[in-house]
Amino acid sequence: MEQYIIRGGTALNGEVEIGGAKNAALGILAAAIMTDEEVLIENLPDVRDVNVMLEAMIQIGVKVDRRDRHSVVLCGADIGDVNIEYEYIKKIRASYYLLGALLGKYKKAEVPLPGGCNIGSRPIDLHLKGFKALGATVTIQNGSICAVAQALKGRHIFLDTVSVGATINIMMAASMAEGRTVIENCAKEPHVVDVANFLNSMGANIKGAGTDVIRIVGVEKLHSTEYSIIPDQIEAGTYMFAAACTGGDVTVRNVIPKHLEATISKLLEIGCDIEEFDTAVRVKAPARLSCANVKTLPYPGYPTDMQPQIGVALSMAEGTSIVTESIFENRFKYLDELARMGAVSKVEGNTAVISGVEKLTGARVSAPDLRAGAALVIAGLAAEGITMIDDIIYIQRGYENFDLKLRGLGAKIECVNSEREARKFVLMVG
Ligand code: UD1
Repeated sequence: MEQYIIRGGTALNGEVEIGGAKNAALGILAAAIMTDEEVLIENLPDVRDVNVMLEAMIQIGVKVDRRDRHSVVLCGADIGDVNIEYEYIKKIRASYYLLGALLGKYKKAEVPLPGGCNIGSRPIDLHLKGFKALGATVTIQNGSICAVAQALKGRHIFLDTVSVGATINIMMAASMAEGRTVIENCAKEPHVVDVANFLNSMGANIKGAGTDVIRIVGVEKLHSTEYSIIPDQIEAGTYMFAAACTGGDVTVRNVIPKHLEATISKLLEIGCDIEEFDTAVRVKAPARLSCANVKTLPYPGYPTDMQPQIGVALSMAEGTSIVTESIFENRFKYLDELARMGAVSKVEGNTAVISGVEKLTGARVSAPDLRAGAALVIAGLAAEGITMIDDIIYIQRGYENFDLKLRGLGAKIECVNSEREARKFVLMVG
């Protein structure tokens, strides 16, 4: 089993190139099968979630031609099956986007019901509510969601909770429904807008993505397109916090600074200097970070996917901070791991009180999930001594070449496969 081994205490310096947004890619890949024509997708991140999604698509008959690591040509003309296997949904929840895509195109789809996951129970009732409103009959049989419709009809749909997944899934199905759909209380995340832009480039008629209300006029057919995915704001934010926590000076390149506003505002609050350019942001850390309170919220609020990263920063900041997680119920597990590195915190319900310590010390920890795992890497980079991180398969779901990019910034980190390799690393880094 691969592990990351880190010798902490080196300030990160230099420039790092950010890849395409994983969460946008997952929606866009699903949407791409809604046409029988070829679709070229560029700036595709080469991460595990994307690769599993492509495997799930191959399984139902989608032609996948990987041009290079970051571009793929897809063709959904020969789809012979509308049932996704459990093996894929287990590995990647977002393969449920194929439900909306297949339902829109073929008026039927079957996808295993995703269970809970490490960050919470994550129901998908709103996705199903939307499909039903469009006229689909939705049943749960033998652990799978079966959605079937004679015809999908545009409707007025109000989402009870702001949900990225439900917004994207319903938007895809409604793109090929008859007539007008209005979705209210939509998620406004940049990747919702990216999926809408992608569908529009295939001939869909979607207006208002990025606001609370999305209006869609259904079309009969979608067509071929070429599309480049937006940069990953969470990958960017992770490197920005890595700079902040290690006393570094890092420029993240190929980003859309507007998408990073909430992250930038918190970095400023905890004492960092920020310089914004057209497609880059530079973060300079202070001698010691300051405490701050933070509450996760749907976009444009502070992202839940950046909560563990700021939690690590606050664990080393001067003073006591309060972190409120308002999106998922189980997103503080990393604090138990961080305690092994000397952090001091107390969790009550959806709130964590973090008392900053002067320094963290290296320890052996496990990645509880994707973003929490990335946050523990940041902790290891900042800590004194050696940190070993287990279960990095979670981290590899969403970060391309994480250790390589960090080494490019001067970090002492290696991905190792055995005790022997780990010992060799320790010998090398001294
Ligand atoms: C997406 C992101 C994930 C991010 C999250 C919040 C992808 C692939 N994943 O997840 O990285 O952390 O947005 O920004 O894009 N909810 C319901 N019923 C539903 C759907 C959601 O109650 O049918 C609730 C969820 O439990 C959660 C909240 O709504 O409390 C927001 O979840 P949602 O925005 O749907 O998250 P995902 O799309 O799963």
